[in-house]
Amino acid sequence: MYQSHLSLPTYTPPAVLFQGKMVQNSSMVHKERGVGMFITRRFTRTVCQTKVPRNANLEKLQNGYLFPEISRHEFEHIRKHPDAKLISLGIGDTTEPIPDIITLDMAAHSRALSTAEGYRGYGAEQGNKELRKAITETVYRDVGVKDTEVFISDGAQCDISRIQLLLGSNVTMAVQDPSFPGYVDSSVIMGRTGEFQEVTGKYANIEYMKCGPENDFFPDLSTTPRTDIIFFVSPNNPTGYAASRDQLEKLVEFAKKNGSIIIYDAAYAAYISDDSPRSIFEIPGAREVAIEISSFSKFAGFTGVRLGWTVVPEELVFSNGFPVIKDFDRIVCTSFNGASNISQAGGLACLSPEGYKAIQGLIDFYRENMKIMVETFESLGLKVYGGKNAPYLWVHFPGSSSWDIFRMILEKTHIITIPGTGFGPGGEGYIRVSALGHRKCILEASKRLTNLFK
Ligand SMILES: Cc1ncc(COP(=O)(O)O)c(C=O)c1O
Repeated sequence: MYQSHLSLPTYTPPAVLFQGKMVQNSSMVHKERGVGMFITRRFTRTVCQTKVPRNANLEKLQNGYLFPEISRHEFEHIRKHPDAKLISLGIGDTTEPIPDIITLDMAAHSRALSTAEGYRGYGAEQGNKELRKAITETVYRDVGVKDTEVFISDGAQCDISRIQLLLGSNVTMAVQDPSFPGYVDSSVIMGRTGEFQEVTGKYANIEYMKCGPENDFFPDLSTTPRTDIIFFVSPNNPTGYAASRDQLEKLVEFAKKNGSIIIYDAAYAAYISDDSPRSIFEIPGAREVAIEISSFSKFAGFTGVRLGWTVVPEELVFSNGFPVIKDFDRIVCTSFNGASNISQAGGLACLSPEGYKAIQGLIDFYRENMKIMVETFESLGLKVYGGKNAPYLWVHFPGSSSWDIFRMILEKTHIITIPGTGFGPGGEGYIRVSALGHRKCILEASKRLTNLFK
């Protein structure tokens, strides 16, 4: 039975006659948010049911995926306060235009598809050779990743699910708590976990590795049991913390000792501004124990264009000695037919010297936002983490419920944030604030928060 803890008002659309059947009226609700327009679709429910049982693993999920849930709160708020100027510092979508040096290449590629010479159909499932090479030469210049180990994808989120297909349901797993919800939710859907435990806020059969200020945002590995898989994201979403070289050396050593595989998500690596590693492959020995997922989304504003990659090193093998890269190649060929050739042309333009420089300008813009928001919270005496190596701030409200803080900020300032527990039980008492936004929204948010907390 689906249950949401979000106490959303229930909406029952009126029944209408549709294709000879009485159905609930489907509705498309348009709404405006800080960044643009989007659509919430309510599904059509017929009175006729199939005899197909629902996937029991999906039944275990506690609520909708976090970000659509936040959008529903946003929608409800707009409905209640139609004149409010809502600012979204929630979902963490990019807002600034992609530099035209990149979009012009995509446009040229797109136009060429209308010509006999320029038309291309399916490409290699693993991605365009030139793009794979460009990634090894720019992102992995000093760490020896081969272009044949890079698999181009339609984004990191999609590759998280493909990696779940690769690993199957019979492996044990650990995850940072808090962390990006994609790892836990896709593991539940895969059937790897037990039921959700209301008391702890955790799924059975997942090892939650608490990462907070008390342990320098790095798990206590001396008390972490061995698992087959360790999901690790650095810089972390939501805490914004980038693991240090020393911490990553410990993680790799731990994985080697236990014969585990680290699934390392480096989606925010481009935001690192200190000497923290930008790739797990900077750590000696990581090639034998790690897969790295990455993305053009936050790096180049490609959240809508869709492009990412995954690196599977040749040295990584299963317990029977079979190379993981061969199985991943099989998964990619079976469940993915390659990324859009237009997106890949954009990716290649991003990695050209001029494109790369233009993207640094975008990242610097968001860094300035991060600075403004960190200064705002600090000036109010609030303890804030992150905001230096990733576009997220992790703001502490000791003793408070993260959902209460989220609702209070929304009600009083019309600003959307994200309650920390959306990222795991370790997020209680925190909210995540995204610094991805137009400058005028960031400045206005800073003003409203100052008025609220001063
Ligand atoms: C840590 C992390 N991994 C992956 C993703 C998904 O990225 P993509 O847009 O490439 O699917 C996100 C998106 O916010 C993220 O925060």
